[in-house]
Amino acid sequence: MILPNATLGLIGGGQLGRMFTMAARNMDYGVTVLDPDPLSPAAEFATAHLNTAYTDLASIETLSASCAAVTTEFENAPAEVLTTLAARTVVRPSGHAVAIAQDRHTEKNFFKSNGFPVGPFAIINCVDDIDIALHDIRLPAVLKTARFGYDGKGQARINSRDELAATLTAWKFAPSIIEEFIPLKLEISVILARAANGEVEVFPVAENQHVNGILDITIAPARIAETLATKAITLAQKLATALNYVGILAVEFFITADDQLLINEIAPRPHNSGHFTIDACRTSQFVQQVRVLCDLPLGDASQHSPAVMLNLLGDVWQGLDHEISPDWQAVLQHPGAHLHLYGKREARKGRKMGHVTVCDPDLSQALAIALQIRQALSQSN
Ligand SMILES: Nc1ncnc2c1ncn2[C@@H]1O[C@H](COP(=O)(O)OP(=O)(O)O)[C@@H](O)[C@H]1O
Ligand SMILES: [Mg+2]
Repeated sequence: MILPNATLGLIGGGQLGRMFTMAARNMDYGVTVLDPDPLSPAAEFATAHLNTAYTDLASIETLSASCAAVTTEFENAPAEVLTTLAARTVVRPSGHAVAIAQDRHTEKNFFKSNGFPVGPFAIINCVDDIDIALHDIRLPAVLKTARFGYDGKGQARINSRDELAATLTAWKFAPSIIEEFIPLKLEISVILARAANGEVEVFPVAENQHVNGILDITIAPARIAETLATKAITLAQKLATALNYVGILAVEFFITADDQLLINEIAPRPHNSGHFTIDACRTSQFVQQVRVLCDLPLGDASQHSPAVMLNLLGDVWQGLDHEISPDWQAVLQHPGAHLHLYGKREARKGRKMGHVTVCDPDLSQALAIALQIRQALSQSN
């Protein structure tokens, strides 16, 4: 066991890293953050900030020499850096698991070859792949770059062959996948922790609503049949086992019109749809990340209050350049609403600036308050 007072390394210093760092610091672990952004949200709480590129050799040396264990908060952490570090210190999740999750080609192939349910897709690397892809999947479709996409970025809706060819040309034929557009009944996610000894603790299934490809609202627990929730949890557990995964794993699912579960993607880290766990579960996903990293016994992931999480995007910051914070009174007047801000100095459209979690014994009441807050914030803009 790695006990409090040890130093933990964190690759990536965004909001997920900030909340991990807060959890770790609260237990008196030191945290060294590696992030090229001088204004990294995590660095504000960290004990040290290595303000360099992720591949900087001196920084990697510092992490391996001074950290009892290293984790990551984003899937674009160079997998080879994690693998290098693993020769000298504990690294969770592994470079292997991150490598699979950070590339939609390897990710989708992994799902398919291990028998996990996925929607129809095809891989595109060059112009010749266009007709092969359109033979295998039907339009309309969604085209996604294999790497570095997030929050709906690096994605395009495709309605015709011409549109596909034009988009790929504009993208300079960056390796991509094309997926059939699935008419969605609902989206859900399962977040779990898998310990080094194989023990697993699963958070309640979350129901997710996206706007423009970005998570807008999470409702927890998801309003789905028990049997479907159990099925999703079982699939997520099997996936974690198949990956030999150690750490926090998020699995995003589509629920189709006929109640089929399809795996959309995985994230080798805490997930935006798990932010409700901070205020509504006995252990948050970030405390759990510390626990699994340090080989502490896993915390109880059960929920003590129904909750609705509302993302706060830069869109609701006011003024021409989104330079003025919203009137927080709209949030703070609700006793069950918990405000979380990520310390980002520059608000931009679509940028995740914070979130609000509304806890209420009645889930529909929590949802009503969250929607009221969203309405008030967007109106004041
Ligand atoms: N094949 C698809 N059919 C229908 N909707 C999709 C499809 N792929 C993505 N979406 C929508 O776009 C959102 C973001 O896509 P996703 O693949 O999860 O990328 P990101 O890495 O940006 O989260 C999904 O949560 C879903 O709402
Ligand atoms: Mg996603």
